[in-house]
Amino acid sequence: MRPLTIIGNWKMNGSLAANQQLIEELLSSKDFLANLQGVRTGLCVPYPYLSQVSQLLAKSSIACGAQDVSDHPNGAYTGDVSAKMLQDFACQYVIVGHSERRQFHQEGDGLVARKAKACLQANITPIICVGETEAEHDDGKTLTVVRRQLQAVLDLLQGQIASCVIAYEPVWAIGTGKVPTPAQAQDVHRELRLQLAKFDDEAASKVAILYGGSLKPDNAKDLLAMPDIDGGLVGGASLNAKDFLALCQACK
Ligand code: G3P
Repeated sequence: MRPLTIIGNWKMNGSLAANQQLIEELLSSKDFLANLQGVRTGLCVPYPYLSQVSQLLAKSSIACGAQDVSDHPNGAYTGDVSAKMLQDFACQYVIVGHSERRQFHQEGDGLVARKAKACLQANITPIICVGETEAEHDDGKTLTVVRRQLQAVLDLLQGQIASCVIAYEPVWAIGTGKVPTPAQAQDVHRELRLQLAKFDDEAASKVAILYGGSLKPDNAKDLLAMPDIDGGLVGGASLNAKDFLALCQACK
């Protein structure tokens, strides 16, 4: 049985004061702590806040994470951040291949796979995002797209897939309030797991496949009840303690 995982993706949001308030509210909530047992949680934050957030989370069971990483170990890559540097801030997760980076930074499947590999080389768990755009969804290309995106990772990572987390994020559901039905999301998660199983049957049963895209307290229970949905990658709802707590409670 895979533990459920709720990972917050703050995207380009936050401030030193707001971060402190949010995390203190989370950690002081008895409900949150009571509901945390068995649910893996993490917050993936903008680089400038890694020091503050990793210190605030240090004594809690909420992991600290980042939202991107270089595929290079070090060197003349101005503005980039290596997996080793993230290790210095006790990062346990890094989101790679988020659709917003694929869209705004032209990140291709090969680069995403190399970033995932860089994470594993630094003992950090990559959260590898796959997902179709609205146009691809409307053209019935969802499975073609997500299978292509995942295959690039499988081809490079070979036997290391068990150490990864996958996130299915239909682009048309991100930040829109629109979500697939639980059955539609489950169908895609199932196909991803079948693709993983072709590669490594044992790993496929262990890899967490998270759903992301307008996951909210009012829709989480039904989505998280699906057999191949192992948690959520959460944007907006991770920016306030009450919603994030509610999502963790929905895992119970
Ligand atoms: O990475 C998670 C994010 O893309 C989902 O955003 O605001 O739709 O939960 P949101």
